[in-house]
Amino acid sequence: MKTRSDNKEVIREVAFVKSSSHVNQCPDTHQPEFAFIGRSNVGKSSLINMICGRKNLAKTSGKPGKTKLINHFLINNEWFLVDLPGYGYASVSKKERNAWPVMINKYLGERENLCNLFVLIDSRISPQAIDLEFIHSVGEAGIPMSLVFTKADKLKPAELKRNVHTFLQTMKQTWEQLPPHFITSSQNGTGRNELLTYVDSVVQDMAG
Ligand code: GTP
Ligand code: MG
Repeated sequence: MKTRSDNKEVIREVAFVKSSSHVNQCPDTHQPEFAFIGRSNVGKSSLINMICGRKNLAKTSGKPGKTKLINHFLINNEWFLVDLPGYGYASVSKKERNAWPVMINKYLGERENLCNLFVLIDSRISPQAIDLEFIHSVGEAGIPMSLVFTKADKLKPAELKRNVHTFLQTMKQTWEQLPPHFITSSQNGTGRNELLTYVDSVVQDMAG
């Protein structure tokens, strides 16, 4: 049986595989895949780096709109982490804004080995319509999802607790059952073990 501390060893090998602009270009595989999505700048790429224990594996930036393609990272030759471009960034070109839903909807709709979509939410702010609408669309599409509240290091514990509670309460107005949720900080590693325990349990389930 694995214990929490074993999760430091859960990631033994990390390899960047490729960047794709279309689901058809993504690696041809049946290995389990976990993707990260959320508003631009919410911390998707930073979270992947934190999970993998590598600073510059996924490209990050203080400016929103950094990740533009579907990026596959293979872990332990066994499962994939996928860094996706964010939504809701008004300043990208119209062409890029229009391309996002096409690329993402195709990826989410057609990627058969996608086991879980982590939807990242900025823990510092009140519930945003754009996140709630996106989460709703993912739920309607029947895609397995979890929530990740990011940048926890930026808040005092009481504020963090209140914001997470408010978000979940807001979701409860339309959701009978809430998806699993995690609280993370890419700066200090909060939530890494919990996330990896979850990923590991899904990978083990898939392996039968
Ligand atoms: P796009 O690729 O543009 O969609 O953004 P992203 O969601 O991948 O965000 P990214 O990881 O590039 O991070 C955006 C900014 O937030 C960077 O300046 C990061 O350093 C910062 N950031 C991300 N996660 C955390 C965190 O947990 N704590 C703190 N303090 N800053 C963070
Ligand atoms: Mg990014």
